[in-house]
Amino acid sequence: MKRIILLIFVAGLYLTLAAACTQTAQQTQTGDTNAVIETIMARRSIRKYKQIPVSRDTLDLIMKCGINAPNGQNRQSWEVRIIDDPAVMNELKEAIAKGHPDMPANAVKGCFRDAPVVLFIARDPSYPFSAYDCGLLSENIMLSAWSLGVGSICLGMPVRMMTDNDVCKPYIEKLGFSEGYEFCLCIGLGYADEAPEAKPRNAEKVKYIDKL
Ligand SMILES: Cc1cc2nc3c(=O)[nH]c(=O)nc-3n(C[C@H](O)[C@H](O)[C@H](O)COP(=O)(O)O)c2cc1C
Repeated sequence: MKRIILLIFVAGLYLTLAAACTQTAQQTQTGDTNAVIETIMARRSIRKYKQIPVSRDTLDLIMKCGINAPNGQNRQSWEVRIIDDPAVMNELKEAIAKGHPDMPANAVKGCFRDAPVVLFIARDPSYPFSAYDCGLLSENIMLSAWSLGVGSICLGMPVRMMTDNDVCKPYIEKLGFSEGYEFCLCIGLGYADEAPEAKPRNAEKVKYIDKL
């Protein structure tokens, strides 16, 4: 009798587990409860940040995800410099403002959107696909950050403001990228102080080719 009860219990457990697995597989396919898809769809560019630090443990994990991005021939044709010290960041903002006396200082300093952490990314221009490598690194950084509750923004403006400017150029050198590397993008990171809506996307830009 005990054996029969045990058999019924094991069979019941098996059926319950099998049903749960099938349900999970179906949900994964539709993306209903897929954590990666949820993170991708929930990420937005953050332009207002709480002025609180992001721990270096969290930044290390985000960067670990960043450098695990796919990249051409595994050349890892990127370099990243991180500023998370407000005093260092302010010094850089002052320099950028000095380099652009024709523009309102606040607007110039605002090019970093007041993110408490700023990543400076450089690419190896000797590798033709390095810009893509840096883009993929950046997306891994921003998605992993969001999955950890850290907001982000891609920033092209600081690159424009710092390159080809005699006051700012020495500051790019101070970031200490390897010889020949080209500063190409910034990413701001920090805890979001806003929750922007998604901007519309044009699905018409994606088409299947069924016949040539
Ligand atoms: C290469 C690149 C450069 C960007 N530069 C800036 C920038 O300098 N300042 C800014 O506020 N947003 C910048 N953005 C953010 C875009 O405006 C934003 O990603 C886009 O409007 C879509 O919004 P979403 O990220 O919330 O989906 C940049 C994005 C990319 C990919």
